[in-house]
Amino acid sequence: MKILVIGSGGREHALVWKAAQSPRATAVWCAPGNAGIALERLARDGRPVECAPIGAEDLPRLLEFARQRHPDLTLVGPDNPLAMGIVDLFQSAGLRAWGPNRKAARFESSKVFAQQFMERHRIPTARAAAFSEPGPARAFAESLEGRCAVKADGLALGKGVRVCSSMAEAAEAIDDFLIRRVHGAAGGSVVIQEYLEGIEVSLHAMVDGRTALLFPTSQDHKQALDGDQGPNTGGMGAYCPTPFLDEAGIDRIQREIIRPWLDGCRSEGIDYRGILYPGLMLTRQGPKVLEFNARFGDPETQVYLARLDNDLIDLCEACLEGALDRQGLRWRPETAICVVMASAGYPGSYVKGRPIRGLTDAASWPNVKVFHAGTARAGDEMVTAGGRVLGVTAWAAGLEAAREIAYQAVERIRFDGAHYRRDIGARPRTQGQERMDPT
Ligand code: AMP
Ligand code: GLY
Repeated sequence: MKILVIGSGGREHALVWKAAQSPRATAVWCAPGNAGIALERLARDGRPVECAPIGAEDLPRLLEFARQRHPDLTLVGPDNPLAMGIVDLFQSAGLRAWGPNRKAARFESSKVFAQQFMERHRIPTARAAAFSEPGPARAFAESLEGRCAVKADGLALGKGVRVCSSMAEAAEAIDDFLIRRVHGAAGGSVVIQEYLEGIEVSLHAMVDGRTALLFPTSQDHKQALDGDQGPNTGGMGAYCPTPFLDEAGIDRIQREIIRPWLDGCRSEGIDYRGILYPGLMLTRQGPKVLEFNARFGDPETQVYLARLDNDLIDLCEACLEGALDRQGLRWRPETAICVVMASAGYPGSYVKGRPIRGLTDAASWPNVKVFHAGTARAGDEMVTAGGRVLGVTAWAAGLEAAREIAYQAVERIRFDGAHYRRDIGARPRTQGQERMDPT
């Protein structure tokens, strides 16, 4: 089975790593990949993974590459190519591509669509409304006393959400999006949601159009600095499982969120195949959906795939064939944690090209995998090439043990200006008392 993975971040490194472990994998390519992905080898015969220098959004060249190499399965990591319809394009050329098609990817590519879908199908979410005119948008934000989240309708490189605590902040966000068009057409309409308080968790489900297999919950750490301070980032670290949902809580999510979502897709003719990743707030009134993503989370993927026992290729194939009801997900009992090491300045501007030392030392630890997000080769050296540089992932019996190993590995790795949070996975100690009532 020949596999092509699209994307270049830590999530894609984890997908490549896991796919390469399958005894079924005879070739793995990644476009464009990164320097860490290029070091992976197939478990079956030690053959190296090959990176092809084609951007994840260059659909015509990706299709040309696929026509030459004939992958049996293409796994799409990032949101943009999905929203652009890469799955539809590949399928129309007779190629099997895993991920939601363009219509299904609207759950992520249009926040207005996703919000209205939730309302049509009574999926618990924040009180919200959609606007394309600033006047009514401001009036709605005022009715919430400015405590709200203003969200650009379209994809905005992860920067399209402003969480506001005053009317001044809300008015500025509304003007930035709707008048100053800081996100261009993506901000031509906005969704404004009431501010929800609670514990935020990431939910993932593998969906084949009929069946949704729910993953254990994980938790990302979106702010750049310890104690959830500083600007929002793509994600500074994650761990799995979280202690915040017991079986009754998971049942409630199945009943109130996953089932009505699947029924809604069926009734609206949406054939969703791939990962559905709802961002959830566990509020005192129960779980509420903040947003839907139509792909694996990053860095959630790193911790999920460190624990997943199934063959990833079997799962993705079953997903495409509508046969997930014959698969069960199997998870290793360990807790997994991923600590992201970023370049100084991230999520703002940062320098690239800093040499990275200690990677071999860190990788020699048992139960550690260092996933690369933004790295490149410069001669014999591995250098930084992105905002998020590495995702140091470790697994052990229990969160505390996993944290300890992950941070010991992190301390082995050095590059100029390396920045990471020291409190990844520390929240269960502070938030554990606030569990929602699961019933
Ligand atoms: P999103 O991309 O929609 O998940 O938003 C980015 C982040 O903003 C989320 O991870 C939350 O931390 C926060 N956020 C989004 N919507 C809300 C909301 N309605 N209430 C409180 N926080 C929110
Ligand atoms: N972990 C955040 C994201 O993937 O959007």
